Amino acid sequence: MLRVLMYLLVAAAAPPSESWDLRWMVGPPIVEVKAPPAEDRQRLRARGRVLFQDRCAGCHGKDGDGRGPFAPGLSVQPTNLTLGIYKLRSTPTGSIPTDEDLFRSVTRGIHGTPMLPWKELSAEDRWALVDQLKAFSMRFRQERPLPPIRIPVPPKEDGALRSKGTKLYGLLRCGACHGDQGKGNGPAEPSYQGRAVRIRDFSRGRFIRGTEMEDIYLTLRVGIEGTPMGAYDALRDDELWALAAHVRLLIRERPVYEFPPARTHARLP
Ligand code: HEC
Ligand code: HEC
Repeated sequence: MLRVLMYLLVAAAAPPSESWDLRWMVGPPIVEVKAPPAEDRQRLRARGRVLFQDRCAGCHGKDGDGRGPFAPGLSVQPTNLTLGIYKLRSTPTGSIPTDEDLFRSVTRGIHGTPMLPWKELSAEDRWALVDQLKAFSMRFRQERPLPPIRIPVPPKEDGALRSKGTKLYGLLRCGACHGDQGKGNGPAEPSYQGRAVRIRDFSRGRFIRGTEMEDIYLTLRVGIEGTPMGAYDALRDDELWALAAHVRLLIRERPVYEFPPARTHARLP
């Protein structure tokens, strides 16, 4: 519990300036995900339980119901882990996430939310936590994850692709929620005020999955479950890529992935 408090203090102490904030909030884009062998994971069970109570329960609750003591003060509510519904999956809509998906979320954090990257925990500890997360929901005992979506190689992001994306963005009325300029202020936005979910403001660049072409493609293919952001899996690949290219046009701030080395701090804008 004390650790969670310290972690919150560190997050709150980060200067309000955008560039700082972004740096605090995002883990490395690529993480090692190779799971330890089954017998090791069995051995790690007890460790996962202890780690969860120590590091995660302050927000996610001791029973994983998302109602930890710090939850009421947070800008985004911690996930209720007993439901087994996850926003970040590589699997199709309706499927539980893969173990690798969970590992990635624990490692990278959820960008732009109080769920910071757990970089100081060893890979073994993070795998132990994955099994603990799964233990909170019946779904992981009753279901198997569907095979992950294979992301094709993205096309070149040129003017033609972008203008096709701009047209589709209008036709599909993405702007009803996200706004024409992607600022998260479309006409439907007032009906989401005060709700647990917030429409993504693209201009701020804080995407929970990521801002690369592949990240946005996957978000559009599988949606963000448990939120109004649906899956657009009826669209063709070229259409999804075009939309991704358009969304990227609306980003005004780019996340900085890792702490830059100390000597370059001074030179950053
Ligand atoms: C400071 C509060 C806080 C702490 C501590 C915290 N989390 Fe979170 N966590 C959150 C919030 C808030 C979200 C919801 C983010 C969202 O919905 O965009 C979240 C979401 C998640 C998700 C769900 C991602 C998804 O796909 O929907 C996982 C997995 C997760 N946390 C695991 C952990 C683990 C494991 C720990 C402990 C090592 C932990 N969290 C500690 C606040 C916290
Ligand atoms: C009904 C409202 C609604 C519509 C329509 C909608 N979105 Fe979203 N979208 C959301 C919400 C809400 C979120 C944030 C979900 C969250 O993280 O809790 C979101 C998030 C996103 C994200 C961010 C993913 C990330 O990694 O953070 C992208 C990209 C996106 N939407 C693209 C689109 C595109 C393109 C369209 C049209 C094809 C579209 N959306 C239509 C509500 C909507």
